[in-house]
Amino acid sequence: MKAETYYRDHWLDIDPDRIEAYEEMFRWRPEMAPLLAPAEISEGQTVVDYGCGPGMLSLELAQRVGPSGHVHAVDINDLFLERAELHADGEKLRERIEFHRIEKDRLPLEDASVDCVVCKNVLEYVDDPEETLRDFRRVLRPGGRVHAIDSDWGMLVVEPIEPERLRCIFDAASMAYKTPLIGRKLFGCMRAAGFDEVKVKVLVGPDTKGRAAAIPLNMAKYARESGQLPEAEIDQFAQDIKDAVEAGTYLLVLPQFLVTAIAPEPR
Ligand SMILES: C[S@@+](CC[C@H](N)C(=O)[O-])C[C@H]1O[C@@H](n2cnc3c(N)ncnc32)[C@H](O)[C@@H]1O
Repeated sequence: MKAETYYRDHWLDIDPDRIEAYEEMFRWRPEMAPLLAPAEISEGQTVVDYGCGPGMLSLELAQRVGPSGHVHAVDINDLFLERAELHADGEKLRERIEFHRIEKDRLPLEDASVDCVVCKNVLEYVDDPEETLRDFRRVLRPGGRVHAIDSDWGMLVVEPIEPERLRCIFDAASMAYKTPLIGRKLFGCMRAAGFDEVKVKVLVGPDTKGRAAAIPLNMAKYARESGQLPEAEIDQFAQDIKDAVEAGTYLLVLPQFLVTAIAPEPR
């Protein structure tokens, strides 16, 4: 894969093993409800799940909009969409969800046709977040909401990895993200995309059990693919994290920016 487009290509070309791992990583758990709360999803709404992956959030949204609502689940990866469709069948929610594979970062939907666009951990991968948010604004009915949930990779803390060491791994892995500091940039991007009323919340739930250890380990994988660091350095990084999880001394903090805005009346 070419370094310049790796941030996108690594989501297009995923081997089936990694797809399995992602299913676990993206699993929706009831304790994640505060991430979605500002979206105020209600029965009967039409909602977009932009960058739906294997569809875990789409299923949750389909439950919330009920039988009279509708979910558009959108992604660039065929395998994810196939998986998402299977999960929807399994949960008997297939009728409420429409799946769309897109190539450009644009929604294949009519102007002013949806009540809410939810986008979780995706905007760091699009070519131009402001342009994508403008497209979200286009499909929202006046008074509808956009709700983006994103990390800020500059704020990642992983014990026992020293900041300079984490920084080296992150720098080598940075080709995997188009806008790695998206968390802090979202507010400005939404304002620049024409949303007037923008609210920001930051949620921080430290992981001490190792559930989120896949995040820095995934980052190590990207760093390895970049070829910028000695293999031994990356191996040691991964091993130190695994050892700390085993020893019960590991701690990970990755703040999640929740940025929500109301679509204005057309000007
Ligand atoms: C980190 S995953 C998040 C998946 C899901 N939103 C969740 O939180 O469970 C990123 C997702 O965004 C998708 N993606 C990456 N670039 C995209 C783009 N330009 N447009 C739409 N989806 C994209 C990937 O295929 C992947 O499913």
